[in-house]
Amino acid sequence: MEIASTWPIRLSLIPLKERFLDLILSLYSYNEYQGYRQLEGLIDELTCRTLVPDWFLEGMRKHANDEKKHYQMFKHYFANEGRMPFDVSRSIGQYDLLVRLVMGVWPPSLGERIFNEADVLPQLARLIIATEIRGLKEVRKILGWRWIQEHQRLKNIFTVIEADEPSHYLPYEAWLKATGARLPGSRERFWDHALHLFLSVCVIPVHFFNPFLKRRTQFQD
Ligand SMILES: [Fe+2]
Ligand SMILES: [Fe+2]
Repeated sequence: MEIASTWPIRLSLIPLKERFLDLILSLYSYNEYQGYRQLEGLIDELTCRTLVPDWFLEGMRKHANDEKKHYQMFKHYFANEGRMPFDVSRSIGQYDLLVRLVMGVWPPSLGERIFNEADVLPQLARLIIATEIRGLKEVRKILGWRWIQEHQRLKNIFTVIEADEPSHYLPYEAWLKATGARLPGSRERFWDHALHLFLSVCVIPVHFFNPFLKRRTQFQD
């Protein structure tokens, strides 16, 4: 009796569950890709100009390699499932939008400003610290979701991310301290949280219910 009354509901929820999870995973995939590509670009520029110490560059390289590994885990997940990520683009990029909001430019355009304006790199470091610390809390929440716990592959992916993330903000924090620059304060945390809230309650639901939201035709790399 109970099975007969609940199975049609359970069955009808499956496409919605798949859509919701694919949307969250697309968001992660997009952000991991943007994260490692932009870090790689930044590392190249900083290496050429010897603006920061080697230990800081090493920390950034480890960070970039981890984000690349995370991106590839999501890519393999989608490839394995036989579906592509949703084409969420810039509208859902937490770090891109945060830099745009606080610093007034998209991250790839920061280029020369990093070398010409003394506070640009420290400000970027503060934003990275703020997003990484809040991002770790989000990963822990997601890892607790029943839908993730029930899915061994996704559980493994988020377990790896949870293990990697705590080290990501450390080189930026150490470098800010070493140079006597300000650490992230209420301003960075406020904008990071406000943006995260906006993405969670506005942008993700709009994408979820948008019947025209397409899947990517190619992976980002
Ligand atoms: Fe990551
Ligand atoms: Fe990270």
